[in-house]
Amino acid sequence: MNHLLTIGELEPDQIQSILDLSTHLETSDESPLKGKNIGFVFEKPSLRTKVGTEVAINQLGGSVVHIEADLLLANGKAVPFTCRESLYDAMMNVSQWCDAIFARVYSHNTLEKMKEYGTIPIVNALCNNHHPMQALADMLTIQQKFGEDKPVTISFVGDANNVAFSLIEVALLLGHSVTFAGPQEYSWSDDKLNYFKLLTVEYGGMFFATKDPFEAVKESDVIYTDTFISMGEEHLFEEKIRHFQPYQVNEKLFSHAKSQTGFMHCLPAHRGIEVTDPVIDHKNSWIYQQAKNRMVVSKGVFSTLLTGGHSKSPQTKHNPSTLKMSAVSP
Ligand code: CP
Ligand code: NVA
Repeated sequence: MNHLLTIGELEPDQIQSILDLSTHLETSDESPLKGKNIGFVFEKPSLRTKVGTEVAINQLGGSVVHIEADLLLANGKAVPFTCRESLYDAMMNVSQWCDAIFARVYSHNTLEKMKEYGTIPIVNALCNNHHPMQALADMLTIQQKFGEDKPVTISFVGDANNVAFSLIEVALLLGHSVTFAGPQEYSWSDDKLNYFKLLTVEYGGMFFATKDPFEAVKESDVIYTDTFISMGEEHLFEEKIRHFQPYQVNEKLFSHAKSQTGFMHCLPAHRGIEVTDPVIDHKNSWIYQQAKNRMVVSKGVFSTLLTGGHSKSPQTKHNPSTLKMSAVSP
């Protein structure tokens, strides 16, 4: 059984195979998902992840079944009597009909339980700790801009959140370098910092974290930010905004980087809060290419999971049929 819960489960050549297959399938008329039904379970709102992935599955001949999150998850608690049935029973039922589940949840543990209880692949559509599908799309965007082999420096400015974590993982696994700037109070735990350090030793990139956003961006090829207030953190709005205000990606910060440096954001963006209009609308802003690539990488991920990545005319450098998505978490 194969799943995709975190980027850390993947080896670098598996990541590249998914990206290569995604690129191939973007314009192919093949239907590798014909006859496959993928259940969507969303505990949180979504535009890009939900729509982009549903379009990808439709284009590859598959179907999407929307399952009310409350039927499975009881607002993330996954316990009987607060919902219609236990998560175990719900997952065993869904496993009889669907070929995979694409789930957006609060707790990462909910995904682990879905994986344990069901008999079908589980794909993480975002949880509080990870956003692997976003990170794959972002890496595809970076490769489209810089080529597959050029190591780049990505600066993440803002919150040490799910998007940042998966982005840092994918970047370091592929040998890129990352600089991170955010307030000390909301930065990475020592465990996470040690994990990033290990990835740099293993794969040759560099990582450093600083409180100073100007120091972080001065050599960067890409500046990335995300919301300062993630879904579920709305009650922290005033407190976080106060701490994060110096980390807004505005013209002053953006112009501190090289003139060709790109701007990235997973979206949804809060214009005037984490990023200003002149930056997000700048000619070097790649946000809509990122959004398009959310659809593209969904093709590669679901084809890899459900068909072993076989393609009529594979354009991949690596053989995705040998992919083994073994679970190796930080
Ligand atoms: N970037 C992203 O995951 O967007 P949605 O929350 O709209 O899916
Ligand atoms: N960090 C954000 C990402 C949204 C796509 C959140 O979790 O709300």
